[in-house]
Amino acid sequence: MRTEILCIETSADFASAAERAADFLKRGEVVALPTETVYGLAANALNESAVRRIYEVKGRPHANPIIVHVSSLKMARECTVAWPEAAASLAAAFWPGPLTLVLPRASRLPAIVSAGGDTVGLRWPAHPFMHEVIRRCGFPLAAPSANISNALSPTSAGHVLATLAGRIPLIIDAGSASVGIESTVLDLTSEPPRILRAGMIDSSRIAQILRREVLDGAGQGSVLKSPGLLRKHYAPRARLIIQKWRDDGELRSALKQFGIPLAEVSLIAYDHIPNAALVGRIAVIPNDPEAYARALYAELHRCDELGARLILVEEPPSGSEWAGIRDRLQRASATD
Ligand code: TXA
Ligand code: MG
Repeated sequence: MRTEILCIETSADFASAAERAADFLKRGEVVALPTETVYGLAANALNESAVRRIYEVKGRPHANPIIVHVSSLKMARECTVAWPEAAASLAAAFWPGPLTLVLPRASRLPAIVSAGGDTVGLRWPAHPFMHEVIRRCGFPLAAPSANISNALSPTSAGHVLATLAGRIPLIIDAGSASVGIESTVLDLTSEPPRILRAGMIDSSRIAQILRREVLDGAGQGSVLKSPGLLRKHYAPRARLIIQKWRDDGELRSALKQFGIPLAEVSLIAYDHIPNAALVGRIAVIPNDPEAYARALYAELHRCDELGARLILVEEPPSGSEWAGIRDRLQRASATD
């Protein structure tokens, strides 16, 4: 299959690309579209065989549910059998944006979207192109991140092309994603509400809107409600280690213990930037959670492209606004 790539820089390109994407989606095909978090692999959420195709293209385990993307509150409500007060206030505060709400699934959505479960993850994304495509289609779009299962999510069209070329008919190139890590996933069917996957909208901001307690993570011994909680996930090919150092001396001795030629080490730092060219590559990433998240996956993809064997990442700060970033780095560093 030939993979077509369309840019959307001018308004004429934007409109014709939206039309092309909508045409494919109406025919039950799967296409890669930009969202503000990461690129998504979209299909008609109401069409069972189209959704099945997403699982095939990604090699995604059938037990992992897919987020359904909408472009209005009306469309969101049509996808669920309950729209609690909490959903209404969170949607008012954060939609369109990087927050996914898990709610009871409406029967018009095929069970495959929810991996057979009775809940559905709903999100109204902020990207204007996604909005335009959903509007043209008139149906919601099921869309996981546009990567092979378990690999790093794509934040550019080039990242999508690198693994999905020849598997899908169309990739829309809208440049770099502005948020950079996947949405926060919040379960509103459990009491109290629980964050299943951390993201840039953190628990304190959610708790502030709901004016009640919000749980972070799946909690010990609880059933695996979200496969995004698997320890090893969102990982680059290279081994990734999170490390703290105060100065070049400490960094040097830390590097020694890994026993990997320094030329094959890539380092990502935001605060204690080494003075010397100690390793193969040193990337400086912004010391601000939003800018950091925006840059992170591109840096990790770059390390893989350059064939790094070890990625050493300076330990990020501990504040709640860094929770999504710490979560992704911990998963990327997991060894099982
Ligand atoms: O930012 C995002 O969320 C991106 C863009 C494309 O919107 N999408 C994304 O999808 O990251 P995916 O499939 O790669 O990750 C979705 C996560 C998975 O961890 C999945 O298990 C969880 O959300 N999820 C989806 N529906 C769920 C449900 N009904 N119950 C629990 N978890 C759910
Ligand atoms: Mg994913």
